[in-house]
Amino acid sequence: MATAMAKTTTTTMRASSLLLVIVLLLVLQLNSVLSWKKDEFRNCNQTPFCKRARSRKPGSCSLVATDVAIDDGDLIAKLVSKEADKGHGEGEEQQQEEEKEPVKPLIFKLSVFQNGILRVKIDEDPSLDPPKKRFEVPEVVLPEFENKKLWLQRVSTEVINGDSGPSSIVYLSDDHDAVLRHDPFEVYVRRKGGDRVVSMNSHGLFDFEQLRKKKEGEDWEERFRSHTDTRPYGPQSISFDVSFYGAGFVYGIPEHATSLALKPTRGPGIDHSEPYRLFNLDVFEYLHDSPFGLYGSIPFMISHGKAHGTSGFFWLNAAEMQIDVMGSGWDAESGISLPSSQSRIDTFWMSEAGIVDAFFFVGPGPKDVMKQYAIVTGTSALPQQFATAYHQCRWNYRDEEDVAHVDSKFDEHDIPYDVLWLDIEHTDGKKYFTWDRVLFPNPEEMQNKLAAKGRRMVTIVDPHIKRDESFHLHKEATKKGYYVKDATGNDFDGWCWPGSSSYPDTLNPEIRSWWAEKFSFQNYVGSTPSLYIWNDMNEPSVFNGPEVTMPRDAVHYGGVEHRELHNAYGYYFHMASADGLLKRGDGKDRPFVLSRAFFPGSQRYGAIWTGDNSADWDHLRVSVPMILTLGLTGISFSGADVGGFFGNLEPELLVRWYQLGAFYPFFRGHAHHDTKRREPWLFGERNTELIREAIHVRYMFLPYFYTLFREANTSGVPVMRPLWMEFPSDEATFSNDEAFMVGNSIFVQGIYTEHARHASVYLPAGQSWYDLRTGVAYKGGVTHKLEVSEESIPAFQKAGTIVPRKDRFRRSSTQMVKDPYTLVIALNSSKAAEGELYIDDGKSFEFEKGDYIHRRFLFSDGKLVSSNASPPASSNTPFSSDCFIERIVLLGLSLGAKSAIIEPANHRVDIELGPLNLRRGQMPSFPTIRKPNVRIADDWTIKIL
Ligand code: NOJ
Repeated sequence: MATAMAKTTTTTMRASSLLLVIVLLLVLQLNSVLSWKKDEFRNCNQTPFCKRARSRKPGSCSLVATDVAIDDGDLIAKLVSKEADKGHGEGEEQQQEEEKEPVKPLIFKLSVFQNGILRVKIDEDPSLDPPKKRFEVPEVVLPEFENKKLWLQRVSTEVINGDSGPSSIVYLSDDHDAVLRHDPFEVYVRRKGGDRVVSMNSHGLFDFEQLRKKKEGEDWEERFRSHTDTRPYGPQSISFDVSFYGAGFVYGIPEHATSLALKPTRGPGIDHSEPYRLFNLDVFEYLHDSPFGLYGSIPFMISHGKAHGTSGFFWLNAAEMQIDVMGSGWDAESGISLPSSQSRIDTFWMSEAGIVDAFFFVGPGPKDVMKQYAIVTGTSALPQQFATAYHQCRWNYRDEEDVAHVDSKFDEHDIPYDVLWLDIEHTDGKKYFTWDRVLFPNPEEMQNKLAAKGRRMVTIVDPHIKRDESFHLHKEATKKGYYVKDATGNDFDGWCWPGSSSYPDTLNPEIRSWWAEKFSFQNYVGSTPSLYIWNDMNEPSVFNGPEVTMPRDAVHYGGVEHRELHNAYGYYFHMASADGLLKRGDGKDRPFVLSRAFFPGSQRYGAIWTGDNSADWDHLRVSVPMILTLGLTGISFSGADVGGFFGNLEPELLVRWYQLGAFYPFFRGHAHHDTKRREPWLFGERNTELIREAIHVRYMFLPYFYTLFREANTSGVPVMRPLWMEFPSDEATFSNDEAFMVGNSIFVQGIYTEHARHASVYLPAGQSWYDLRTGVAYKGGVTHKLEVSEESIPAFQKAGTIVPRKDRFRRSSTQMVKDPYTLVIALNSSKAAEGELYIDDGKSFEFEKGDYIHRRFLFSDGKLVSSNASPPASSNTPFSSDCFIERIVLLGLSLGAKSAIIEPANHRVDIELGPLNLRRGQMPSFPTIRKPNVRIADDWTIKIL
């Protein structure tokens, strides 16, 4: 008995000291990730593949294309090395890696698709028995993309001027050819007239490290800080140059906190710049201007220039990537001559592993490139209506009482909101899908109370699963072998919020489907149909891992190394969670899942936010280029934490953030648990009023936003757009990332400094602009020095557009469904304007059967015509709406007009002077048709008399 007791005491003591060590370790770990530390992340010099690639000299590629033929509708060739050891770069490591066996031929495949899309694949030859099949990223390219393939029948061979040898030329579109030059190997797209658009390997920097056997005495391990990467397959990187012709600027390749137009990273006068890194990382307190990689990666670059328009290049590859943008003169020594008649931007792409699977997009306009990319990777899912409204989040809303309090305060202060969020503390010990039953004893009731007001709740579900034997999810995942494995074949065990954790291997479709089942109402106890999901930490974040992530030698389904798929891990996790929400509602309701990590294709699964920003003016400012870049690379539904995640802020900054955030596609306030509470009513009456007004602006424009979300869903064109997307020949807009367009009608510019009294605002050329608040008209093509007040940021409606609004303010978007509409018609110099409105049930997939209303409004010759813009619905129960139009405000109409006649009702209405915005106590100064009593869904004409 005594022995037994002694044993128990020793065990208890051991357990408690172990616990202490764990707690200490956790605290240390937490402290160490609380501010961005440069040393924790590798730079290019500390990343051998990047260093090797960067040291290569132009012209060092010795590959030539041979055996060119058409096979199965594709152009195929072998890339063989002309000289085994031509001019490589310097450095010991370089030499070590470069002591290669003779280069085996690579397989080259060029395929052509509708809409001017070229796909080029380069991989090792499977018949030559490489040690391992290299990873090709599955489930990013839409399955239906293959149906767009144009089966090549013919190839012509020509010596193109300036070349010494032949090129193979195939049809790409009526305006473009795709060209494979044989020696030296180069691929490019050219216009029929001969001008190049995008090219690969024009500078001879292409390099493909083929998998091989380890030589005796060779060391493949890589060390970084205390971590060792065993690199069992050795060097396998790929790098090449890509040139964009006729380009003024290049954009894209998120995620970086930096300018919209990408800055050169190499070249004369550019010292020690890092390449843009694409490696999904949990970077706390990231800098506001840096090329370092953040939470998501999209290797898609877009170029734009005035004369030649827009083109794009996308490399589907999920390994770490580094991309240099070359400054002019970088290749002065190379002796390589490229067509110089057009301006050109050269870039250099390096990836640690994978294959070349590259897509060239010919444009020619910015929206064409958006569409071409969407044809490959899909358009943004259409969100439910509620998700486009305002979200209130904090780490953490403590308990049910706190939730009820915050909810009631919104009502008390007449501030609408749609979604209340719960962060990690709502769970039982950071075990997702559970509730802390002391703090949240009645989760269903809590959700139902919110739902009764038309509001939703979101809870967080991260990928790290607590290694707790009593946790059913862990037990099941362990038993089924569903975790990612470490290099020794055991379940990978890393530290995250719950302490020791393992990670589901969502690359495996079977595991994704298992994960999706966990969201069923039966499995997720305490969840209700009004509960939606937030996926965080899915880079994946591993506190004690190299660079706060999973070791590259961890192993996934099918023997795929983590290094090969790293950037797509969060994507597959997001996919599985979205699928879970779909399944739980029998596929009826559109899912809502916010994710921090992303990859090409993430747009199909939900929204993205820009992670842990800081509560300062610089982060407010950089949120605009970050969100614009996401939109350019397919992800329309994105936003930044309003107010900034880290730190406390002055009310002025918070107000400015709400004023800007009201125009982000995804609009959510969020804050770290160490910050002071910052719900909108906590900063005095005046600030509450200003924040209320900012949120009201968003609610007022919800019909317009929803129409834009639908446009993004059908065309790939983002909701929030760089100015140059709407004004592609106005050069003054090309590098402007302080302002942006919401759709084609609304221009917004943030205020990024404190105590601002004035702002310089460049309004794009071609049209005039009406101040959204005052209705005053301003000339386009001019930089205006505008007075700014605390009440709003500069925002304008473009002349020639019609914007639908809902001006009655309710508690949530759900309560606005039956409200009447207001149309704001901003006339251009020809006294004309046009606009659109899209409406559906706001939640289901019935719109896919045509169950929606899509109206086109056209004002010309003194007549407003509403017509149907949609094809006939294919279902028997087409969507209908009884909503009326209650007001039509005409900006730019002479004040003389007194009445209008409505057809076919033949009903006469007065035109009176009215305010532009009802709640702003404005003077009634704009011709307004009040109560025209026309239904939004009907065809009608209103003729001004
Ligand atoms: C990191 C996320 O970026 C942040 O938004 C969240 O509040 C914390 N994780 C806690 O879950």
